[in-house]
Amino acid sequence: MAFTKCWLAYPEIRGCRCDAISLHTELTGETIDRAKAELAEGFKGLYGAALTEGDDITLALDMALDPEGYRLKAADGHCTIEGGSEVGVLYGVFALLRNLQTAGKAWAQFTADEEKAPSNRLRMLNHWDNMDGSIERGYSGDSFFFKDSEILIDVPRLTAYARMLASVGINGITINNVNVKDAASWLITDRYFGALQEYLKIFTPYGVKLYLSINFAAPMELGGMDSADPCDPAVAKWWADKAQEVWANLPGLGGFLVKADSEGRPGPFTYGRNQADGANMLADAVAPCGGHIVWRCFVYNCQQDWRNTKIDRARAGYDYFMPLDGTFRDNVTLQIKNGPMDFQVREPVSPLIGGLQHTHIAVEFQIAQEYTGQQRHVCYLMPWFRQILDFDMHTRPNGDAHVRALIQGAGNGMVAVTNTGNDENWTGHDLAAANLYGFGRLSYDTTLDPAVIAGEWLRLTFGNNEPVEKTLHRILMQSWPTYEKYNAPLGVGWMVNPNYHYGPNVDGYEYSRWGCYHRASFDGIGIDRSPTGSDYCHQYAPELAEMYANVETCPEELLLFFHHMPYNYVLKSGKTILQHIYDTHFEGAEDAARFYDEVVTLKPYLDPAVYARLEARFAHQKEHACEWRDVINTYFYRKTGIGDAHGRKIYE
Ligand code: GCU
Repeated sequence: MAFTKCWLAYPEIRGCRCDAISLHTELTGETIDRAKAELAEGFKGLYGAALTEGDDITLALDMALDPEGYRLKAADGHCTIEGGSEVGVLYGVFALLRNLQTAGKAWAQFTADEEKAPSNRLRMLNHWDNMDGSIERGYSGDSFFFKDSEILIDVPRLTAYARMLASVGINGITINNVNVKDAASWLITDRYFGALQEYLKIFTPYGVKLYLSINFAAPMELGGMDSADPCDPAVAKWWADKAQEVWANLPGLGGFLVKADSEGRPGPFTYGRNQADGANMLADAVAPCGGHIVWRCFVYNCQQDWRNTKIDRARAGYDYFMPLDGTFRDNVTLQIKNGPMDFQVREPVSPLIGGLQHTHIAVEFQIAQEYTGQQRHVCYLMPWFRQILDFDMHTRPNGDAHVRALIQGAGNGMVAVTNTGNDENWTGHDLAAANLYGFGRLSYDTTLDPAVIAGEWLRLTFGNNEPVEKTLHRILMQSWPTYEKYNAPLGVGWMVNPNYHYGPNVDGYEYSRWGCYHRASFDGIGIDRSPTGSDYCHQYAPELAEMYANVETCPEELLLFFHHMPYNYVLKSGKTILQHIYDTHFEGAEDAARFYDEVVTLKPYLDPAVYARLEARFAHQKEHACEWRDVINTYFYRKTGIGDAHGRKIYE
């Protein structure tokens, strides 16, 4: 299937054409070949220029730089790019091409002086692709990795993808779903080694390590054993032998990602063992091969009785993993979702991220918009991710406990459940590509401003096209707040249709086993997570625990996450909670209508296919936001019998 070039289209910088730009380098190798090819393609597109031999640009190594860092200097038509390794050089080349476009200048006028090292070592995407070709929580077509239990080797598409990843500094991907089903267990057998070797050839030169999600019960499923007990020496030996076999066939593989004891997946709990027993057994097996275990912390009781108000799913990650701090091997990284629940439009930062002091951690974000509009609504998530990175956990009395500091250093980093598929434009909604681009950029440099990232992405994708840039920038920057307005109020989350998680359904999860409730009743709404309730708030450092426990100091956008509050409680805005719900839902639907009106003004300035896709999605969002507004407002009107203070229509 055909596919677009996304932000690597290199649209012409008008009025700046030149015949040739020349390159000199003594470096060789596959990564350098990719860097040169990128320069050739970039200059052809931006300036109509050929890449020739000469000294306009020099590529070199400087071992004093970070291995994934680069230094870029340019003035008077001359430019040097130095990298701490070949991959650093490649990153520098992408930086040059990006900066040329954002500057929008002729080659001779362009100046640059920047030196960068990545904020994080691990900058990874998790694909939730199944081997039948479907994608769990995929909203942009089918997998471009798998179909009918086979691995697809679509070299042009995979290469285009590898380039996109490297261009924003992503250095790892898991290609298969964490829920390892059907044929996927066999990815670590000779049935698939040949095809995976082709993947290594494509991704490795771009600095992208390949990881596989594995089935913790593989010794049973593949090895015919009667147990997967991590403390059974025979099981450990099976994994050690398996690792030798895997790495002998797939040298350079990054490691394994594991979802264990989570939502029905097998894990160490079956044998009365803890999460460290499981992770460490695998870590020991892969260590001689240089392998890495990424172990997810999404462990909770998904068979909860909703009648039992004593259990709180939000507590689970911390309760299971905190006591194990310091017991994990050095080649284990715990992958922790950004919030304690599951990628809602708003959640507090998971207390486990701040709690663990002696364990490698990666924060897991989700750019697949499972709960944020499924790539049919626009929702640019970088402003939120940046807030999370900026959050101070207060857990290092003598050091920096902002999330972005806690994920620095070896073994730590950022992961996103990704949003791509085989749709022509990769991400379904054209604007959802801003999340893919943005996540990469933010993971490489956690201090970047989300507004700047959005501007870059727009310029790279649409060229110098002022009406498009201005309008879409405004929409992107308003999109997350807008989505939040017509969603579940004040941090409580979960008012969606069960299973597929799309569209409003206030009680969709209320009486189910999944542990995600809002507990709306005649007298109020929200969950008491203060000391009178589950006391989840005391999983935070004392300053934060106190802040969250007290309704006066609890940030209002999270008020109902932490407290059960009466509908007539007056917020700082002077509005009651009920009126706040009405107002935000009216406003959210108005915002979505305005987005649509703004997008239709762009018709003359956009490629017809892009415009048609955008128009259709914004039309749907406008309508669907009204559905959200009406379902939620009606629900609370019925609960309270109190109408809108401004007399607007609320359906009965
Ligand atoms: C969510 C999502 C599942 C996914 C799970 C996970 O619950 O709905 O599809 O498997 O997260 O992160 O493992």
